[in-house]
Amino acid sequence: MIVAIDGPAASGKGTLARRIAAHYGLPHLDTGLLYRAVAVKLIHRTMLDDAEAGAEEARRLDPAGLNDPELRSEAAGAGASVVSAYPQVRQALVEFQRRFAATPPGAVLDGRDIGTVICPDAEVKLYVTASAEERARRRALELRARGETVDEAEILADIRARDARDMGRTSAPLKPAEDAVHLDTTELDADAAFAAAIAIVERRT
Ligand code: C5P
Repeated sequence: MIVAIDGPAASGKGTLARRIAAHYGLPHLDTGLLYRAVAVKLIHRTMLDDAEAGAEEARRLDPAGLNDPELRSEAAGAGASVVSAYPQVRQALVEFQRRFAATPPGAVLDGRDIGTVICPDAEVKLYVTASAEERARRRALELRARGETVDEAEILADIRARDARDMGRTSAPLKPAEDAVHLDTTELDADAAFAAAIAIVERRT
């Protein structure tokens, strides 16, 4: 079984993907980490604007490095949103993602183009959303819990800018697959969102 989960930044899709994977005993791939890893490599080389260098980093990406806490930083996320618009970078990451998904017994992948480009034949496709304000509130809570000082208005502006970039790019823009089931988590807590997602998976399989 392949479960494809897409949605905008801070929509809760990552937490959902992890919990669904654990529930069904499937491996999980947070595909945003791949773009974050490429971005961090380029940031270290001060080459964030070089698409070819990005593709090269993507081709020699070591999956063992995806646990690096630096990938979780806001800078890595912003950089990922830049490099993910480079078609060469996206192309260089397709194979790895498809192989991960196709390995038995299947997998849960979350990102922006899983249901549309990476796994168009996935048994289950979820498109997870929440209002930009709610996503900013959640992101602020998460950062405060990590001890960071946050400006919620700034976070909201960042989220809106990221949405515009992810949805507006020409290469694999963020959009729901035609056969994706939409799950709006604005009014749901994590447990309610998980229960709703499991109900969708059960209906689809
Ligand atoms: O989900 P996360 O915030 O880690 O993703 C970081 C950035 O990577 C996103 O803003 C998006 O631009 C990009 N991304 C993508 N395709 C994916 C996963 C992430 O373009 N499948």
